[in-house]
Amino acid sequence: MDSIGVFDSGVGGLTVVAALRRRLPAESILYLGDTARLPYGSKSPETVTRYTRRNIEFLVERGVKAVVVACNTASALALDNLQLAGGMPLWGVIEPGARRAAEVSRGRVGVIATEATVRSDAYPRALRRLRPDLSVVSRACPLFVPLVEEGWHEDDEVTTRIAERYLAPLLAAEIDTLVLGCTHYPLLKAVLARVAGPAVTLVDSAEAVAEVVAEGLAAAGLAKPEGPGPVHATQHLCVTDGGESFKLVAGRILGDPDLPLEWVEVV
Ligand code: DGL
Repeated sequence: MDSIGVFDSGVGGLTVVAALRRRLPAESILYLGDTARLPYGSKSPETVTRYTRRNIEFLVERGVKAVVVACNTASALALDNLQLAGGMPLWGVIEPGARRAAEVSRGRVGVIATEATVRSDAYPRALRRLRPDLSVVSRACPLFVPLVEEGWHEDDEVTTRIAERYLAPLLAAEIDTLVLGCTHYPLLKAVLARVAGPAVTLVDSAEAVAEVVAEGLAAAGLAKPEGPGPVHATQHLCVTDGGESFKLVAGRILGDPDLPLEWVEVV
């Protein structure tokens, strides 16, 4: 197989898959949603690092040519300690997201993420490295991931109330840019944009990651040629626990209501 391996704890990383498919239509993708162990955001760095290692091993055993950690929590807690055998390319989502925010912000950045990502301080560190003048306020939003996994992300009254409560301190701090520091959160974009208002620019790292992956594959000589002929790229989705809601939300994200799922064991 010659795919890009991508993983997250659940459906969130599929926002990155959707961006990869738009940017790299000729590339096949093998996705792992570690639904049996979701959420990662409330777990310790040691546990998240162990899960991350195993997920990557699973993708590598399946023969992928590169790995995208489409999970901010795993990128923040585990990525620094990992290197792939043979120098296989490995990307996380924090650096590309921080870079995009540093480009667009007028000075005040809000970061919303899981508890573990906020505790790691990974975004403020990355942002200040890029632009020491930035002021950064972070807020953990632990209820967002279950809402997304449940499929309650579009225009839902309950989700809107929760978003108002989470964003209140950031809006009081007059942020001009809001980093969606969890790959589940782009699915809440419509609600978040409405609550944050037009003065706040939302930064979704998915597009930025797709760009970094495209450049990295090309530089490593691993990119599939994009010819004028038919594209035979495939996407294969694996989960560590079955779930109708995963299928439903995945179908909405990838625009295919009948996606087959393979149930795998990653221990
Ligand atoms: N989607 C993941 C992230 O980007 C984590 C969600 C979770 O499992 O808590 O952080």
